[in-house]
Amino acid sequence: MLRGVARSQYGRTLAVGGMGALGAVVGSMVLSDRERQVQCEADGGEAKSPSTVMGILSDIHEKLGRIETAMGVSETTPIKPAPVASFQLPPSPGAKIDVVLGAQWGDEGKGKLVDILSQEYDVCARVAGGSNAGHTIVVGGTKYKFHLLPSGILNEKAMCVIGNGVVVHLPSFLNEIDSLTIPGVEDRLKISDRAHLVFDFHQQVDGHLETKLGRHKIGTTKKGIGPAYASKISRNGLRVGDLQNWPYFEQRFRSLAEHHMNSFEGLEIDVEGQLEYYKNISNRVGKLTIDTIEYTNQAYADGKKILVEGANATMLDIDFGTYPYVTSSNPSVGSVLTGLGVSPNKLRGIYGTVKAYCTRVGEGPFPTELEMSVEGTVGHHLSSVGAEYGTTTG
Ligand code: IMP
Repeated sequence: MLRGVARSQYGRTLAVGGMGALGAVVGSMVLSDRERQVQCEADGGEAKSPSTVMGILSDIHEKLGRIETAMGVSETTPIKPAPVASFQLPPSPGAKIDVVLGAQWGDEGKGKLVDILSQEYDVCARVAGGSNAGHTIVVGGTKYKFHLLPSGILNEKAMCVIGNGVVVHLPSFLNEIDSLTIPGVEDRLKISDRAHLVFDFHQQVDGHLETKLGRHKIGTTKKGIGPAYASKISRNGLRVGDLQNWPYFEQRFRSLAEHHMNSFEGLEIDVEGQLEYYKNISNRVGKLTIDTIEYTNQAYADGKKILVEGANATMLDIDFGTYPYVTSSNPSVGSVLTGLGVSPNKLRGIYGTVKAYCTRVGEGPFPTELEMSVEGTVGHHLSSVGAEYGTTTG
């Protein structure tokens, strides 16, 4: 296992595990280069094997089905019909929500997989977490860096949704949009009115808490994720939609800033400067802000294909991960329901991505570690060939 500089770039080997009823890894594929269109559409080879990623996933699904059948737990095993079955509405034809999650400690290559898959979906969504450490996607020689936007934004036919479970640092979010040289991005982007805001002072507090922890630090990204979720849970946070009611926003912001200055000695917040900034961007943000719960459910009812791009990974889950060395949200499947506002029976495929070796950023338990800095070692080889260097963290 590798620790330290693990961040996603692409051109690596992925093992993709079908996370069906067995939660087993049943297949693998090699996503070998940066030409996703070639991967997606024109893999023409001798092909007994499927030529598209969707084909590969169907193949995996089929294999999983066979394993399940062999173990006697197949979906096709006759199940006594439940008496209330008639209450279950079948999904509209073509409708589905598929989910790609990280099944290790993050940086398994979700972005690459999602980038390829998203070409075939109508809506791509983020449901939890905040600006993560980021990944780079190269299309036609142009590099795009993503931290918060779903990488589906590169599919010019897809709508992108930032769900209510996400926490958003608007200055970084707007910079990320501005850095994309793709026309009409803001016409295809919707952000939930319920998504909570990460303020600069949340980021300062994140750094301060890490410093205070000293050698017991969590190794956070210092993007203010934990402190912003803390404000959400303390019920004194602000949400994206609050910007559209300026007197309310101003009053809540002053009170939240004061609360933080009282709680963290030495913390200084330029309250007037921040208010001016947020007032200036409120119109721009307002045009992107909607009730994404209604939007997503309507899209589902209209038969649209929806893809959820998970952030972080299961072992960083606040409930299921290696607490306290975790992030502050639920990167596992539960957050798709709560962070997008959809019911469980709307989910179809749930795919966990894994790497052949593990990497971890930050602190926390990691049973076997490889030396990465010494040339000639296995760790050094894996980290250089696997390009385990980050968009943010290097
Ligand atoms: P936070 O989400 O910044 O609070 O960081 C909490 C933990 O999650 C730390 O161990 C981070 O290194 C880890 N983490 C956060 N974002 C990522 C990511 O994108 N990839 C891998 N690890 C991450």
